Amino acid sequence: MYLLIPAAGSGRRMGSDRNKLLLPVLGQPILAWTLLAARESRLIRWVGLIGQPVDFPDFKEIVMALGMTKMVHLIQGGTTRQESVYRGLQGLPAVAGRVLIHDGARCLATPALLDRCAEAIQHCPGLVAAIPVKDTIKVVKPGTHQITQTPDRSNLWAAQTPQAFVVETLLRCHEQGREQGWQVTDDAALFEQCGYPVKVIEGEETNLKITTPLDLAIAELVLRQRQS
Ligand code: CTP
Ligand code: MG
Repeated sequence: MYLLIPAAGSGRRMGSDRNKLLLPVLGQPILAWTLLAARESRLIRWVGLIGQPVDFPDFKEIVMALGMTKMVHLIQGGTTRQESVYRGLQGLPAVAGRVLIHDGARCLATPALLDRCAEAIQHCPGLVAAIPVKDTIKVVKPGTHQITQTPDRSNLWAAQTPQAFVVETLLRCHEQGREQGWQVTDDAALFEQCGYPVKVIEGEETNLKITTPLDLAIAELVLRQRQS
C-alpha cells in the first residue's frame, strides 16, 4: 500500500515558530511517531512524505534515525493542505492504484488502524476513518450567534485520517476542485463533491490531530500510557 503523509504545514495554531511536526513529544518529534506507525504497519510499503523544503534536512534526519530511508520519499508541498496532497498524488509511482492519506499531525494513529484502512480500501472507492461525535453539534448562522439547527447526533461522525481512495479518481476530483476553486479541509470532501461514495470506518478515539499545546500534552499522556 502507498501512503502519503501531508507534513507541509506551519503549525500556526500551535503558536510555534516552526513546523509543529518537529516539536518533541516524549523525546521524539511528532512526525517520528507518525512515521513509526507507518513503519510498523504490515501493508504499507511506500511513503510519500510531503513537506516544505526548509524542513527537509530535519525530515531526512528523522527518516534516517527510524531506518526508513528506502521506504520514504520526500515530496514538496504547497501553501494549503489541499495543494500539498495534490502534489503528493502527482509524486506517486504510476503503478499506485490506491492510496492512504494520513496527516503527519495525527501521530497517535496505530499501525492496526492504518492496516484496517489499507484492507478496506480494496473493496470501495473511498473511505475515511471517523468516530461518532460525543458532543451535541449546533449549526449557527454565519456572522451571528444564532443557532439554526441541531442535527441528529446519531448521524454525525468526526472525520479523521487515514482516508483512502482510488488514486485515479481522487486525482480527477482534485483537478475538478482546482478548476472550480473548491476549498476543502480533507480529501473526502472533494470526492463527495464530485458525487463519488465515501464510507466511514471506525477510527480511534486516541487518534487526535495535534493542533494546540493542549493536544501535545494529551498526546504525551497517551504515549506514556502505551509504554507502561
Ligand atoms: N499540511 C500540509 N500542507 C499545508 C498545510 C498543512 O501538508 N500547506 C499538513 C500539516 O502538516 C498537517 C496536516 O496537513 O500534518 C493537517 O493540517 P493542520 O493540522 O492544520 O496543520 P498546520 O496547517 O501545520 O497547522 P495550522 O493550521 O494551525 O497552521
Ligand atoms: Mg492548517
